[in-house]
Amino acid sequence: PFIPVILAGGSGERFWPLSRKARPKQFLTLDGGQHSLLQATAKRLEGLATEMDCVFVVTSNDYRSLVLEQLPDLPLENLLVEPQARDTAPAVLYAALTVAQHHPDAVMGIFTSDHRIGNERAFHQVIRDAARLAAETASIVTLGITPTYPATGYGYIERAEQVMAFEENVGYRVARFTEKPDAQTAEAFLGTGRFSWNSGIFVCTVQTLLEEYRTHQPELYATLSEAMKVRGKVREVFPTLKKISIDYAILEKSSRVMVIPAEFDWDDLGDWNALERLLRSESQNVSVGRHVGLDTEGAILYTTGGDDLIVTIGLEDVVVVRTSEVTLVVRKDRTQDIKKVVQQIKAHP
Ligand code: GDD
Ligand code: MG
Repeated sequence: PFIPVILAGGSGERFWPLSRKARPKQFLTLDGGQHSLLQATAKRLEGLATEMDCVFVVTSNDYRSLVLEQLPDLPLENLLVEPQARDTAPAVLYAALTVAQHHPDAVMGIFTSDHRIGNERAFHQVIRDAARLAAETASIVTLGITPTYPATGYGYIERAEQVMAFEENVGYRVARFTEKPDAQTAEAFLGTGRFSWNSGIFVCTVQTLLEEYRTHQPELYATLSEAMKVRGKVREVFPTLKKISIDYAILEKSSRVMVIPAEFDWDDLGDWNALERLLRSESQNVSVGRHVGLDTEGAILYTTGGDDLIVTIGLEDVVVVRTSEVTLVVRKDRTQDIKKVVQQIKAHP
């Protein structure tokens, strides 16, 4: 069977103050619409999984009830709860070991829950092709995104030779995987034309994934797999596991990684500026909630209160966010610094 696993335990700070520790990005409805990013992710997987009850969600203890609230159809036994968030390497291993107990021959798809993805048909096709490539070559198949600027917040995947061609997609062996390079390295990568960004989505057989953990993270593998054989032991050992993402723990180390450059629209929704792309507004400003602007251009405005009104006069290129507790006003080119402010507030609440 094909088993999708959704990672939903991150803490997304760049969408503060909308994204709070209590309700990070994946649980938010950023476009003011019907579905949160997590709900949209689950919906997108319909038709890919053999059955809906094949979908697994991994999250940390803090977000257990949010997931259940947002995905009421998810069977309880398909919600895997990490006693404490230790980043994605332990989370994915926990999912793989659990899936292996019931479906040792499964092909798994690991899906992030913090992106917007357009062109669902192309998305489904590339996942199907990735599943075939993964099963036939016993590899971890990543989905690559064509890079548009030397971003430092993504993994970079260098293509080597072509391994398999499908009707719409082509699979390549990966020469190397580099997680979050510095700006200079990213620039050099971009110059070669051989690199994709890592979308964060990948497909592999459960057995291949477990072998790669055994080889490259033997301690993590041994600790968690042993703990799962003893009642109550996972709760005890999980907080002691190495805090590391799967990108550093496995993808950078493994020699069995492949990539399919994907053609679907992909947007990381990295910070408030993403709202402009998300809402694709033709007007001068984008707003969720009520806004009256006089001589205001290129503004992004967001209120959570249904009747709240934001009024701006003579402003250009600003972001204004109003929640019940916080009002944020920031220049568009400084939204990356929101993280810093959040750190300060944490230190001096
Ligand atoms: N269950 C669980 N537990 N999920 C987690 C945890 C955790 O401890 N930490 C993060 N996640 C989830 C997030 O909610 C998100 O859906 C996904 O895993 C990716 O985590 P991020 O923390 O958002 O990673 P990133 O954006 O810094 O980097 C990753 O994604 C990039 C693409 O957006 C990497 O895979 C990069 O290589 C990639 O380019
Ligand atoms: Mg992310």
